[in-house]
Amino acid sequence: MSRHAEIELKDIVKTYHMGAETLTTLKKVSLRVYRGEFMAIVGPSGSGKSTLMNIIGCLDTPSEGQYIIDGQDASRMSDNQLARVRNEKIGFIFQSFHLLSQLSAFENVELPLVYRGMPAKQRREIASGMLAQMGLADKQNHKPRQLSGGQQQRVAIARALASQPSILLADEPTGALDTKTGKEVMGIFQQLHRQGHTIILITHDPGVAEAAESVIRITDGIITEERRGNHAIQPGSPDGLEEHYRQ
Ligand SMILES: Nc1ncnc2c1ncn2[C@@H]1O[C@H](COP(=O)(O)OP(=O)(O)O)[C@@H](O)[C@H]1O
Ligand SMILES: [Mg+2]
Repeated sequence: MSRHAEIELKDIVKTYHMGAETLTTLKKVSLRVYRGEFMAIVGPSGSGKSTLMNIIGCLDTPSEGQYIIDGQDASRMSDNQLARVRNEKIGFIFQSFHLLSQLSAFENVELPLVYRGMPAKQRREIASGMLAQMGLADKQNHKPRQLSGGQQQRVAIARALASQPSILLADEPTGALDTKTGKEVMGIFQQLHRQGHTIILITHDPGVAEAAESVIRITDGIITEERRGNHAIQPGSPDGLEEHYRQ
């Protein structure tokens, strides 16, 4: 079975300049993520995981190298072009949920659709449907502080799904949850994976990484390990990958 690369990073370098100092946080990272793949990114704190996620999520651009998302070159896009790609293709989930505290669960999920200019009736259908899918049909009118951590994260996942993105990016989504609740949230990601979403998830937790299909390890801005299914492949080697997916 051959699979379509939805995301392709070629020799990505990210350098930060702070006064006279420069800090290179990604050092020629090359990576493909296939449509429908469930990938975990692991590595020590400060190794460049969030920097990589921000580039994949079109929140930031690389200093060098090329980033192709769904056939479009995002490496040199303007902020407006990046925002368009982001809105169309990507849903974000964060460790600390990032829900708006004054809004109900329903209103939080509905908000991205308001920004899109979607009519109210359609918005209501989608937001209610997503919350129901997350098992929160009876919590629509609750404010975030009236919900448990796991429930808040499920609201955040419903919000990410509301605009029907094909790619879900999650930065330590279980980092603020206890083990049992974290497992429940991982169960949701596995369910979304089975529904065909491409999922890229950053984690510190080896147990969480085990739930994924592929694992990428980053150490000091370099991919040092790449596993697809049960196969370890040469990091950054597209040829090894093609081989793997042809089997
Ligand atoms: N906006 C920024 N300006 C300067 N340095 C940054 C910025 N963002 C991240 N860094 C630095 O880049 C390195 C990698 O950070 P990050 O990608 O957040 O790592 P991780 O998510 O793996 O913990 C760290 O040393 C961090 O301090
Ligand atoms: Mg991080």
